[in-house]
Amino acid sequence: MSRLDSVIRRLCAQRDCLNAAVSAAPEGAFLEIGLGNGRTYNHLREIAPDREIWVIDRAMNAHPASAPPDALFLCGEADEMMTTLHERIGRTIALAHYDLGVGIPEHDTPLRARLAPLLRQLMTDKALLVANARFDLFDTIPTPETVPTDRYFMHRVEG
Ligand SMILES: C[S@@+](CC[C@H](N)C(=O)[O-])C[C@H]1O[C@@H](n2cnc3c(N)ncnc32)[C@H](O)[C@@H]1O
Repeated sequence: MSRLDSVIRRLCAQRDCLNAAVSAAPEGAFLEIGLGNGRTYNHLREIAPDREIWVIDRAMNAHPASAPPDALFLCGEADEMMTTLHERIGRTIALAHYDLGVGIPEHDTPLRARLAPLLRQLMTDKALLVANARFDLFDTIPTPETVPTDRYFMHRVEG
């Protein structure tokens, strides 16, 4: 598969999982972890205009059309920012999208393991986590049929 095809597959998987998760999310706010250029944040804002969407990134590099309001942007390291967010809003996140990582398992797996409990404490019962990799701490749920196996992941919080 060409790299172009691979990117297209990843972006379609992201979009299809986010669309499915928005339809199934319980009451509550959303959280985007990894703003980057702002593509997925912009999509979430478009398909869920009534939800408050918190955003975490260590830097602001989003396209101006995809920048979150200052009041909802937590600029810093994800672990510190999740702790800060928990102090502010408690356990009220209904949908989180996790898009951190560099594609190297030696880096990404320990990062997810470190962040998972911090993320867990933010998420309400039945909240959904859409992620670029599997989180062992959460139960996975099936992704839409259009998403190739293990290309993108959906999880649900129980309890
Ligand atoms: C792949 S990009 C996100 C792409 C974005 N979801 C989009 O669709 O445009 C990953 C982002 O995560 C941020 N990031 C990576 N590791 C981080 C960490 N430990 N804490 C906070 N931000 C981090 C980077 O600054 C980068 O902007």
